[in-house]
Amino acid sequence: MRLLVCGGAGFIGSNFVRTRLRGSDDEIVVLDKLTYAGRRENLQDLEEDPRFSFVHGAIEDPAAVATAIERADAVVNFAAETHVDRSIIEPDAFVRTHALGTFVLLEAARERELRFLQVSTDEVYGSIEEGSFTESSPLDPSSPYSATKAGADLLVSSYRHTYGTETLICRGSNNYGPYQYPEKLIPLMVLNALAGDRLPVYGDGLNVRNWLFVEDFASGIAHVLEHGTPGEAYNVGGPDECANIDVVRRILELCGRDESLIDHVTDRPGHDRRYSLASEKVRALGWSASMRFDVGLERTVAWYRDNAWWWEPIRSGAYRDYYTRQYGQTLDD
Ligand code: NAD
Ligand code: DAU
Repeated sequence: MRLLVCGGAGFIGSNFVRTRLRGSDDEIVVLDKLTYAGRRENLQDLEEDPRFSFVHGAIEDPAAVATAIERADAVVNFAAETHVDRSIIEPDAFVRTHALGTFVLLEAARERELRFLQVSTDEVYGSIEEGSFTESSPLDPSSPYSATKAGADLLVSSYRHTYGTETLICRGSNNYGPYQYPEKLIPLMVLNALAGDRLPVYGDGLNVRNWLFVEDFASGIAHVLEHGTPGEAYNVGGPDECANIDVVRRILELCGRDESLIDHVTDRPGHDRRYSLASEKVRALGWSASMRFDVGLERTVAWYRDNAWWWEPIRSGAYRDYYTRQYGQTLDD
């Protein structure tokens, strides 16, 4: 297949591109705006592959999309602003990318009659105290991030309903693994623990997330792209749930540090308590997650420990200003 992968220089997109180039005959064009979270370093080992090419541009720019989509048979859209805390401080880019960007891509796919897979999130359903969300649960997002992602999902579905475009939606739970930008819980805590910095846990630390190893999400998306029924949404949830404080304790243990580094800091406004997905529908297509959280977390900590070349430029740049703004404390040198 010839794929246009939007947002392929980010965390999940780059893992998806790597999985596809290694495991299929796909030709892949990545279209990416290279925001702070999008980095060519994430694709460094793939740049020499003749089946890979890169276009620098935004999904809300019709000219960039027209160039990138030229030879594609299908579009997979990862491009997004993805950090909930940033969406609370500065929602503008979330609206632009998720609403306008998804619209521009959908128009391009409609004109060319291409299959279109939208990468979405469990957060569109909101928080759930007990049980799990299925694909027919109502959308009830709570942050500017999740609300704009839910809006994009609805727009995608409308293109199936109105124009017959072959759309698919994959809603993933919390991903973790190599190449994740250290604003998200796991890489942030791993890098702080390795450096001996404080570990800022929001509120009581009892919020629960459903952890999915990034290569499992990548294989789930590929599976839905090939075997999914157009017009349908598929939940892709991880095999294990864990409270934040327990995630942090395991990271400290794996990094050889003790719990005195934990700081309970002011809670995130509107903080969702628990996410949980029922994934029977995608399992019926033949997909299942292969990485349990204990093993995946150990592998992830090892990757960050061994790949300082990847994160050192981040920890020494603009990220430090972001960190001070977000946490009211500085990182040690
Ligand atoms: P990320 O922030 O690491 O990467 C996002 C990528 O999109 C970056 O390369 C960025 O440069 C690019 N991008 C942003 N705006 C763009 C624009 N307007 N035009 C072109 N490129 C643009 O994000 P991620 O964690 O890899 O998430 C990828 C997708 O998966 C997102 O749609 C996200 O909502 C979804 N998702 C993420 C998770 C998670 O736990 N990280 C879970 C479920 C779903
Ligand atoms: O559920 C899927 C979603 O997971 C994705 O759609 C989002 O793009 C992704 O960012 C993620 O959202 P979360 O808000 O769940 O992830 P985050 O890593 O920001 O936070 C995970 C939990 O950890 C959450 O309960 C908040 C808490 N947390 C986070 C940070 C960054 C802390 O306690 N301290 C922190 O410093």
